[in-house]
Amino acid sequence: MIYSKIIGTGSHLPEKVVTNQDLEKILDTDDQWIRDRTGIRERRISNDDEPTTVLAEHSCRKALEAAETEADEIDLLIVGTTTPDLIFPSTACLVQKKIGLPNCGAMDVNAACSGFIYALSIADKYIRCGDAKKVLVCGAETLSKMINWNKRETAVLFGDGAGAVVLEASEEPGILSTHIHANGHHAELLSTSVGVSRGFDGLKDNDGKAEIQMKGNEVFKLAVRTLGRIVDETLAANDMDKSELDWLIPHQANLRIISATAKKLEMDMDRVVITVDRHGNTSSASVPLALDEAVRDGRIKRGDLLLLEAFGGGFTWGSALIKY
Ligand code: ACO
Repeated sequence: MIYSKIIGTGSHLPEKVVTNQDLEKILDTDDQWIRDRTGIRERRISNDDEPTTVLAEHSCRKALEAAETEADEIDLLIVGTTTPDLIFPSTACLVQKKIGLPNCGAMDVNAACSGFIYALSIADKYIRCGDAKKVLVCGAETLSKMINWNKRETAVLFGDGAGAVVLEASEEPGILSTHIHANGHHAELLSTSVGVSRGFDGLKDNDGKAEIQMKGNEVFKLAVRTLGRIVDETLAANDMDKSELDWLIPHQANLRIISATAKKLEMDMDRVVITVDRHGNTSSASVPLALDEAVRDGRIKRGDLLLLEAFGGGFTWGSALIKY
């Protein structure tokens, strides 16, 4: 049996920190509200010379270094992103050129905040079927470029960053299962204002930029219910009990959503990797950023059982159960 094993992780954040206090100066909001309702204290915001590909490139280089893998060993690069530099070439193709990965396949996956889990799922299938030996999987976003900075409902929530992993075919257990789902029926609850074939009229509303539109409260309730179901599905598919989990590595949208999932799993919060307080919601970058942080600071150890999960626009959601 072939498994996909994580042999290296990496991540990258822009240097610029924007605190809740900074936002108090430009919006009718306050630090206490943001911390109480979301758990966010600060977020990183990229400069104009740090588009998604630059964040992705740095995180991929660090993952390759940690994996002691040369660029020419990579068979496939998959980037989960909903904020590509360009409509095409894909972010993956631009990153492939920057890092110098000769001849590998390269593609973007747009599944909003579930983008990394979706990308991981595709990578795992390529490895399991024998078509790839090493795959670089990245989640990279600059959601700050799609924010209306006059709207407190969304401006306080998002941040920029990137995370990556190198997967390698192995006879030892690694990714045990991945599960992905979508439901387009609630598309209007979380979407962007513009698109190519719909036209760019929505740019007028946000000073020439696209804008995230979200009915936060309804998204919140759906996210809690849906994530509850996906953790059950994941454990059942592997005939495992929640008590066997070592770490929950959730999508970092809101500390209250994360706490609800941890409660369902009866996991203490010290077994949950939290970055939302410092990163905000970095969409498809949030899970690999959290994974890399906990691997590098030594919390996650070889042999630990990890549950990764995410929920985002579409709606999309997914999970991965991993023997690290
Ligand atoms: N500062 C102060 N007050 C605010 C702010 C703010 N930044 N934002 C909203 N409020 C006010 C509202 O105007 C409202 O006031 P009112 O009662 O006078 O009308 C009040 O706070 C409550 O607003 P709600 O939207 O009901 O607040 P809620 O408790 O639901 O928190 C939040 C909002 C944080 C957005 C939450 O709903 C949430 O996290 N939703 C889910 C987000 C998510 O998971 N997204 C999925 C991934 S994102 C992706 O895929 C790109």
